[in-house]
Amino acid sequence: MKFFTTAVALAATLSAAYAQNGYKGFNSGSTFSNGQNKQQVDFAYEMRAAQQLPGTNGAWTSMRLYTMIQGGTTNTPISAIPAAIETKSTLLLGLWASAPADQFQNEVTALTNAINQYGTAFTDLVTGISVGSEDLYRNSVNEVGASPQQIVDYVSKVRSAIAGTSLAGKPVGHVDTWNAFTNSANSAVISAIDFLGMDAYPYYQTSEPGGNGIGNANATFWKSYTATQAVAQGKPVWVTETGWPIIGDTLGQAVAGTDNAEVYWKETICGFTAKGINMYYFQLQSAQGQQVNPDWGIKPAGDVVQEPVRFDVSC
Ligand SMILES: *[C@@H]1O[C@H](CO)[C@@H](O)[C@H](O)[C@H]1NC(C)=O
Repeated sequence: MKFFTTAVALAATLSAAYAQNGYKGFNSGSTFSNGQNKQQVDFAYEMRAAQQLPGTNGAWTSMRLYTMIQGGTTNTPISAIPAAIETKSTLLLGLWASAPADQFQNEVTALTNAINQYGTAFTDLVTGISVGSEDLYRNSVNEVGASPQQIVDYVSKVRSAIAGTSLAGKPVGHVDTWNAFTNSANSAVISAIDFLGMDAYPYYQTSEPGGNGIGNANATFWKSYTATQAVAQGKPVWVTETGWPIIGDTLGQAVAGTDNAEVYWKETICGFTAKGINMYYFQLQSAQGQQVNPDWGIKPAGDVVQEPVRFDVSC
């Protein structure tokens, strides 16, 4: 009887955790790697390029952002918003949270300004709102991050800011590495949010039993996802960053390259999206303006939508 109850409870937890919307998109920073600020035309270009990926039936229609603030301004809403309205894309919003309260307030002000300026044309496109990105991970390795208490506080500030607006009711979450979520020191963040945005890169998991070669990557990714689900308090776990580099150093058994990136896409990305789990890949384009290491772009940086994809991204 006890076993039966546990089994039923587990099944209920799994089905709740798998209640997802099937969003598919790419991550997009507010600047190019040479520091230049992206403008509306740049975001619109990326959105169209994603929608026109061959063999995907226009399914890659979402974009995840890291900040609400247009580059070069104090609190002007990011121009990805009018670009999303223009291209009929959806947005996973992000507020940069590894910052003191006065700077975080600029993120909240930009969010509020966006609601006032664009109204439901904007808010109808929002898939979710992430307070922070890998802040707990950076905090754990003594880089500029944020404590769990700070993230909980910022989540409540965002909830207050959207209460009574057309964004009320949108899920408020946090994005971090899978092992920041499984670290029990951070569990207060999980209690405070509506969804977990999980970042996981098997390429970097050099101490994984079975190795970090491409042959073990799908299994490693699933392991990270299930481990995150196990601490998610029944809340949905979205995939907010993952990918395999096209160019980069060999790390342990992990070898960068187009062939391996294609294997990762076919096995892991196709497998997850087939289950309808929300997926934000890292990333669509190579860095513009300079070669970076590692380089995750499934397309070269380019000015035309027709720039070829590096491998077959159909599932
Ligand atoms: C990826 O791993 C999951 C979990 O073990 C498994 O169900 C799935 O079949 C694997 N996919 C491939 C293509 O091997």
